[in-house]
Amino acid sequence: MSAQAFGLDIGTSSIKAALVKKDGNAFRLESIAVTPSTPKGLLSESLIDFQALADVIRKMLNEANLKITNVVFCLPESQVYTKIIEMPQLSDQELSAALKFEMEQYIPLPLDQVKTDWVVLSRSDSSGKKTMEVMIIAAPLNIVSKYEKLSEMLNLVPSAIESEVVSVHRALLPLVNNASSNMILHIGGTTSSICIVKQGIIKTVVSLPLGGIAITRAVSLDLGIDQASAENYKRAYGLSRDAFEGKIGKALAPILESITGDVKKTMLSFREKNANETISQIVLSGGSALLPGIDVFFTNSLSIQVVLGNCFAAYNMGNVPQELLAQAPSFNVVVGLSLRNLL
Ligand SMILES: Nc1ncnc2c1ncn2[C@@H]1O[C@H](COP(=O)(O)OP(=O)(O)OP(=O)(O)O)[C@@H](O)[C@H]1O
Ligand SMILES: [Mg+2]
Repeated sequence: MSAQAFGLDIGTSSIKAALVKKDGNAFRLESIAVTPSTPKGLLSESLIDFQALADVIRKMLNEANLKITNVVFCLPESQVYTKIIEMPQLSDQELSAALKFEMEQYIPLPLDQVKTDWVVLSRSDSSGKKTMEVMIIAAPLNIVSKYEKLSEMLNLVPSAIESEVVSVHRALLPLVNNASSNMILHIGGTTSSICIVKQGIIKTVVSLPLGGIAITRAVSLDLGIDQASAENYKRAYGLSRDAFEGKIGKALAPILESITGDVKKTMLSFREKNANETISQIVLSGGSALLPGIDVFFTNSLSIQVVLGNCFAAYNMGNVPQELLAQAPSFNVVVGLSLRNLL
């Protein structure tokens, strides 16, 4: 088994760290920490902003007494290019060699400016044809080098950098690892991801430039209040029809409707490619999954069962602080990162 590693999720809204341990078949949350992101986060090119980010993370890790050095990072979905392709069944070595020559045809970015990686999603022997599905991931080198620089500043050793949707999928795998098709709808701060999982395996990934920050901005603009008040009202009342005559719900509905539109399109295209296979449920993830009434909103607008994706419950995890249980969907990415070396 690979060395023990903790997960570090540097989001645009908050930064989270988690360390999960496995004892036999039991999972235990050793450490967990969360702190607000710095204003510019990883987007800035300035050394001062970068130093500020490193300081915030160092302080958070110290307070959580998280001392191990191996870390698994995730790349923001909006910055990553993902493509799922079918290949003949090959060994890892053969696949690596084959993709080296074929990468150019799949990645619409100059290959000398990206770091590429791949994950085998499934192998199939159906209709006498031995094939496998491979997810190719390409990330701009300047983003990857930021994680490397940050690791250096924090004395950490990156053991892996993966795409955010891969971490969420791992965190919720026990909930979607069944005979039917499920959708994971992850709504974060800046970005959302739609991921369709068939028999436990990722089939489709779509990333949207919308999330909780846009929701707060819509409430702030519509009600003419500052962002901090809008954030508080959003969290307290969400889609409630009673509070403020339903004004908050009305202000944020267009963002959710836009996400619904993309969910419908993604479902349709999946059904076309998969003999009209229906999606049995939507598992909500990300901090914005905590918006009061969001599950009912999607149940009504998509006529499908919607559940909250809780990574702690999915793995029957011990030692989870009581106050974090209800916020589980916002920890799916970071818990998934720390589970990487344990499954
Ligand atoms: N209780 C709540 N009700 C409504 N929204 C919430 C709640 N808690 C958090 N959020 C929203 O969730 C968003 C943050 O989600 P998350 O922590 O998944 O984002 P992030 O990882 O920092 O962002 P990204 O991955 O998009 O860069 C924020 O916009 C925040 O307002
Ligand atoms: Mg995130």
